Amino acid sequence: MMCRYACMPQERLRHGAFWVAAVQPGDIESIRVWRNAQIDVLRQKAPLTPEQQQAYYAETIWPSLEMPHPANILLGYHEGDRLIGYGGLVHIAWEDRRAEVSFLLDPALMASPDISGPYIRIFLGLMKQLAFRDLALTRLTTECYAIRTEIIALLETEGFRREGVLREHVRIGGHAVDSLQHGWLAADELALTRATPEDCECLWRWRNDAETRANSLNSKDIAWEVHKAWFGKALQDPARIIFVARVGEVAVGMCRFDIGAEAAEASIALDPAMRGRGLAVPLLSRAVACFREDTHLPLLATVKAHNTASMRCFERCGFVRSAGDGACWRYRLEGI
Ligand SMILES: CC(C)(COP(=O)(O)OP(=O)(O)OC[C@H]1O[C@@H](n2cnc3c(N)ncnc32)[C@H](O)[C@@H]1OP(=O)(O)O)[C@@H](O)C(=O)NCCC(=O)NCCS
Repeated sequence: MMCRYACMPQERLRHGAFWVAAVQPGDIESIRVWRNAQIDVLRQKAPLTPEQQQAYYAETIWPSLEMPHPANILLGYHEGDRLIGYGGLVHIAWEDRRAEVSFLLDPALMASPDISGPYIRIFLGLMKQLAFRDLALTRLTTECYAIRTEIIALLETEGFRREGVLREHVRIGGHAVDSLQHGWLAADELALTRATPEDCECLWRWRNDAETRANSLNSKDIAWEVHKAWFGKALQDPARIIFVARVGEVAVGMCRFDIGAEAAEASIALDPAMRGRGLAVPLLSRAVACFREDTHLPLLATVKAHNTASMRCFERCGFVRSAGDGACWRYRLEGI
């Protein structure tokens, strides 16, 4: 029987011919040999014996496969039917929505950065997908020793920011070597584009979600045909600007500006599955910055008095509460 992680909604994650899935018992001897061959770049201090490797998986990894929140998710990395490496998310801090990315390739693929680069890049992309889309994590970290200049350059091209240096943290070949800490936040990757006809279905889904309806001034369910007609018109209307935000390929939310003569009305909604991950403030602040590239009108927003997340979000983006009638608050951000 195949091992799989119960917490992973998709057993395998793919990118073309490449895929990752839980490490299988048949993989662990290759992994042991690869670890021992690259011991200098690992936190491991001595070569592992086959018995130690068996014991580690038997005691720590196999029992964690069924857990809803395992501390580590170790995955085999495959190209077609060949195991080419392994890695995954380790030291997962579920409450803090954070994990460390770990990876190791077959040493045969590490001969030059030109060879290893594309493999590592694809693996990092799969880890972002797993962490962000499937497990609701919002921060990934890495630790990398300073001698691995090509890996460090690659991490930085893939959006991992250098966050710190632990000076002379390890000794490698008799020399003290720094350890570099990198971090990736889902919010760093949040990209805004103007809505297109392809976004019609997403926006309809987000709009009809129960929480959005409860927080909207018009809380009725909107029929698909009605939405489609409205959306088609909205895209042509110079007085409506709709931005859609994505993290990588995943559409996460939208911000809309309805432009009037003296001010524009702002509204925001996230995909229900993406709420509570700290994305709303960066989404709104970037949408306001994009809006400000073309217009300097004051911005207004109406927020229902029970909608704490939304109030906090507008306040963090500089909107000031100006009036209220008990049920709703009016917010305003002056034009510049
Ligand atoms: C409103 C909405 C966009 C907020 O997104 P979110 O993912 O839930 O919010 P975030 O996790 O990004 O949190 C935004 C801020 O509110 C805070 N917050 C969230 N829930 C909170 C609560 N119950 N009490 C106090 N603060 C809260 C967060 O801590 C964060 O502030 P911080 O960055 O200072 O820590 C989202 O909930 C949504 O789409 N709701 C449905 C549509 C809607 O209500 N739109 C607004 C209409 S005006």
